[in-house]
Amino acid sequence: VKKDSPRVLDGLASLRAVVEAAKPSSVCLVTSRRLAKELGWAVDEILNSGWLRAFVPDGEAAKEWAETEKLLARFVTLGLDRRSLVVALGGGTVGDAVGFAASIYLRGVRYAQVPTTLVAQADSALGGKTGVNFLGAKNQVGCTRTPIAIISDSRFLRSLAPEQIVDGLGEIIKCGFFADPKILALLEKETVASLPNSSRLAEIVERTAKVKLRLVVKDPMDLGARQLLNVGHTVGHAIEIGQGLSHGRAVLEGMAREIAAGARLGLTRPEVAARFATLLKKLRIQLDAKLDFDWSAVRRDKKVEGDEIVWPIVASVGKGRLVRIKLEKLKKNL
Ligand SMILES: NC(=O)c1ccc[n+]([C@@H]2O[C@H](COP(=O)([O-])OP(=O)(O)OC[C@H]3O[C@@H](n4cnc5c(N)ncnc54)[C@H](O)[C@@H]3O)[C@@H](O)[C@H]2O)c1
Ligand SMILES: [Zn+2]
Repeated sequence: VKKDSPRVLDGLASLRAVVEAAKPSSVCLVTSRRLAKELGWAVDEILNSGWLRAFVPDGEAAKEWAETEKLLARFVTLGLDRRSLVVALGGGTVGDAVGFAASIYLRGVRYAQVPTTLVAQADSALGGKTGVNFLGAKNQVGCTRTPIAIISDSRFLRSLAPEQIVDGLGEIIKCGFFADPKILALLEKETVASLPNSSRLAEIVERTAKVKLRLVVKDPMDLGARQLLNVGHTVGHAIEIGQGLSHGRAVLEGMAREIAAGARLGLTRPEVAARFATLLKKLRIQLDAKLDFDWSAVRRDKKVEGDEIVWPIVASVGKGRLVRIKLEKLKKNL
């Protein structure tokens, strides 16, 4: 295992061994009160009587700047020291906020991620990006710090709403298309409704995590190869902002349009669009071809360089590529 590649483990049971091996002076479990109730079974399973506890607000409110201060104050009250271990149990918001607090407390204490949403298991808990929102801007303040382990458990996903599954599927389907077609083959046997209870789910999540972590290790500063993770995001972000869709759903909408544009430009093989449409139909995810997006949002994309954009595309099923293309040319074909 490379130094910067954390252990990704499936099954809550492995948390115990991770904690034991870390030999922490104390362990602090952080989650939201809502989740502590919703996932009480998990808390019962992992909570050792000696563990300390702290709470953050549920959802995006956990990522308010003032909450970081409160959480740090709680760490002080609980007497966490340099050898303490923080365990973040929850979705991407808990992971981002708790990971950030752990990263700056005493110049950084160790933390572990226990992601409980599909978004968090397939994306946000991986890669070591932590952070909070600031002055109304998302993820404006944060840092990169790798957790000592990421412990996913498929059982968490059973209590998610169907739209939260779709939200997580955005990045999963994306990874399948540009890097690992086996993910697509596994998904093709499922629907959004069947997935949370499927025996295939753990493998789907694990394969997606591998795709992302491979790129993170290759490109830790997020300057090159990691850009491939932005497949579908060029248009997806613009749709997300304009239409207020969930990130994952917007990525799927973006992928549909970018794949079609890539095909028109001769950059994406024609069978990609067919496979994408068939997969969504099988999963019973309906996209809305009429959704509009603002071109000016695409122009502001961080991948834009002058009048060009470094555009990550699906070249063929399982293969992604970064292509440099004139913005005007892309616009004409979208
Ligand atoms: N760090 C990164 O690289 C990265 C990547 C992508 C997204 N993100 C961030 O992730 C956040 C979104 O994460 P999210 O989609 O997990 O949202 P979230 O953390 O807000 O969770 C959504 C809701 O689901 C509930 N929930 C969580 N787990 C549950 C479970 N097992 N059963 C029932 N309910 C459950 C939560 O209580 C919450 O109300 C955003 O803030 C985004 O910026 C970060
Ligand atoms: Zn994304």
